Amino acid sequence: MIRHRFHALCPYFAMFPESFAEYWIKRLTKPNDTVLDPFSGRGTTALTALLCGRHAISSDVNDVAICLTMAKTRSPSYKRVRSRINELRREFDPKEWKNPATAADEFFRYAYAPSTLRQLLYLRSSLDWKDSRVDNMLAALTLGSLHGEVTSKRYLSNQLPRTISTKPRYSVNFWKARHLVAPERDVFTVLGEIATYRYESPLPEGDSVVLHTDMRNLPRVIDTDKQGPLRCAITSPPYLNVTSFEEDQWLRLWFLGGPAHPKKGAVSRDDRHGTADNYWSFIGDMWRSLGAVMAEDAHVVIRIGSRRISPEALKRGLAGCAQFSGRKVKLISHHVSEIRKRQTDAFRPGTKGCVVELDCHFKFDD
Ligand SMILES: C[S@@+](CC[C@H](N)C(=O)[O-])C[C@H]1O[C@@H](n2cnc3c(N)ncnc32)[C@H](O)[C@@H]1O
Repeated sequence: MIRHRFHALCPYFAMFPESFAEYWIKRLTKPNDTVLDPFSGRGTTALTALLCGRHAISSDVNDVAICLTMAKTRSPSYKRVRSRINELRREFDPKEWKNPATAADEFFRYAYAPSTLRQLLYLRSSLDWKDSRVDNMLAALTLGSLHGEVTSKRYLSNQLPRTISTKPRYSVNFWKARHLVAPERDVFTVLGEIATYRYESPLPEGDSVVLHTDMRNLPRVIDTDKQGPLRCAITSPPYLNVTSFEEDQWLRLWFLGGPAHPKKGAVSRDDRHGTADNYWSFIGDMWRSLGAVMAEDAHVVIRIGSRRISPEALKRGLAGCAQFSGRKVKLISHHVSEIRKRQTDAFRPGTKGCVVELDCHFKFDD
């Protein structure tokens, strides 16, 4: 399959590649089947399902994940995106955006040129990303450009990592020590260029339901009579003690309406379980939900990782917790891979990201 340009709309920490989703979707499902991802992240399972002629249901608790998954799988036409960019540009009055509190904040003063920050503040307050598909796509495109390498014209910020947003104090010290100045970028122009590039690929078709909810609620919100049997789940829950999606994506969350500083624990208690006991109880909750919503004989493919427990212990934990589904579950196969080039290496040399990843294929064997 040719790589669809929506896949790389925005990086996401601990994302899996589309080849992983594609392999399992093609192997375990038929056209028109529905594929579930309870931990959607950047929406790779859902987008790949649609591209393979299947339907998708996704859930996540994080606004960034919801915004990206919706944009990729419930996309407006290119024409609507272009005309909304023109409309927003016409209505933008820089004078109105001169003095908001954010503009005085040291982090934001160093992160963005004043003219760029005014446009971002305007878009942040104008885009109705939860209820309008076209605004949702524009918000997702902005998220993909919000921070990255200062040398690339597609990023709006001073030098920052692409995947995660570093903490304000660390970032300011980094910029000051290197005398780095934020580039002047016209956000409307950047959005127009990126939209043109992304829309070179045809729009995905098929039904996609995106649920902004904790996966524990899935039994209450998925109507399998209406949506049809769920034959396959392909997913990757947060890993044990690896990252907080909320804290590490604070700048993107800010753009979507969140606070102008990092926070953790408010979006999801499951993002970074520090102890194995709590982690396995969370994985048990995942199985409870899967047991309630998945069809007879359904397949479940799970990728998890850790930097401190062995692949064997991970496998035992994952398979052992399957009992909480309340159904008979068979482990069909598993595969362990070492991660050589970790995402964290790119911005925090010497830190340890995830070291091993384990893929398990289970089947309900009722
Ligand atoms: C490892 S990431 C998924 C990455 C995804 N496979 C991808 O390729 O982008 C785990 C996701 O689980 C979400 N999450 C954490 N706790 C959750 C919960 N209780 N219910 C649903 N989603 C949750 C996080 O916000 C994060 O997006």
